Amino acid sequence: MEPTSVGHGTVEDSSVEHPGLDIEALRAETPGTAHRVHLNNAGAGLLSRRTLVTMTSHLELEAEIGGYEAARQEQDRIDATYTSIAELVGGQSDEIALFDNSTHAWNAGFYSMVFKPGDRILTGRAEYGSNVLAYLQTARRSGAEVVVVPDDESGGLDTTALAALIDERTKLVGVTHIPTSGGLVNPAHEIGRITRAAGVPFLLDATQSVGQFPVDVTRIGCDMLSATGRKFLRGPRGTGFLWVRREALEYLDPFVSDIQAATWDGDRGFTWHAGARRFESWEASYANVLGLGVAARQALDLGMDRIGERATALGAYLRDALDALPGVTTYDLGRVRCAIVTAKVDGVPTADVAAALARQGINVTTTVPEHTQFDTEVRDVHPLVRLSPHYYNTHAELDRAVEAVAALARAAG
Ligand SMILES: Cc1ncc(COP(=O)(O)O)c(C=O)c1O
Repeated sequence: MEPTSVGHGTVEDSSVEHPGLDIEALRAETPGTAHRVHLNNAGAGLLSRRTLVTMTSHLELEAEIGGYEAARQEQDRIDATYTSIAELVGGQSDEIALFDNSTHAWNAGFYSMVFKPGDRILTGRAEYGSNVLAYLQTARRSGAEVVVVPDDESGGLDTTALAALIDERTKLVGVTHIPTSGGLVNPAHEIGRITRAAGVPFLLDATQSVGQFPVDVTRIGCDMLSATGRKFLRGPRGTGFLWVRREALEYLDPFVSDIQAATWDGDRGFTWHAGARRFESWEASYANVLGLGVAARQALDLGMDRIGERATALGAYLRDALDALPGVTTYDLGRVRCAIVTAKVDGVPTADVAAALARQGINVTTTVPEHTQFDTEVRDVHPLVRLSPHYYNTHAELDRAVEAVAALARAAG
């Protein structure tokens, strides 16, 4: 299930609260947990040893027998990546295209749509900066208009306003499920219900949600979904994917073509690949593809429900603990919040907070005001320190981070 409540946490790391998740064993299989308190899963999650070994073994195989030959030998496992990703998001394997990141996956879907003057793209205040830049470029090129749907009182996308804004000019609803800059979970299911009823394509940027909690394209009712491998899914850097509803292939015109995407029929004709692989290009890192497949399979084996429950509970625990500190404020919006926690310490620049935590071996990052202008227009709060635990973190690690923040707040106060 997608997280449904903010929750309050004093949950302990026991298999009683999270049956099926043996945290100690999972940490033993995650080399990075031995060295750092890794609270930057919204940046990049830690690889499991199995993923790491899969990738390095494939690189060794390439070195030993040749890159093309290694791919041929591992073809079944490469195909299995598509199957696992499809299963993870509730789609079919021929609806999956693999990319080197989420931005390229999203671009492949978005730039395959054709806009004309007067068309409207509806988006939300939490939209990812690169997506907004693509909207603005397209608006400049085509004369289409970008309309930002207001937030509701909780800070999530206002679905009543969205429903009221949709009309015959609306060619696309593009929404970011979880922003890069906070703990908000946008109401994707409700947005999907509205777009399906209106017959308007819905492109969901699920970069921060896939791998963090269950994301099901059928239940959401989106038409395209983009995600990255390296964040909460714990895949390698340099991976991403696009899911495209089969029926959407009929109106999408892939914005680039190549010998993977299409077949040159001879003479002057060409035929697109039958499925979503028409959005791919020929060359890929198969070590990465295999690593992504293993990461997706691990998430499926552990159970996305369990992963989601624990990640959300850890996020709530951390948020509550930071909020309870004098001189510390958290800034996560929305009725439903996830494992991403953003905060500020009175009197301490955000960059200094992140640097102080880094010196203590605690990985966090900071939000960037320019990447989130729609949010900045409404509440001028960025940069914030961003802490993003995942299911393999422990409450003891979170307590350590909270104590480090508390010490900074004490020193400044
Ligand atoms: C919400 C969101 N969308 C898209 C992206 C871009 O992902 P990638 O860096 O894999 O292209 C990010 C990256 O942080 C993100 O947070």
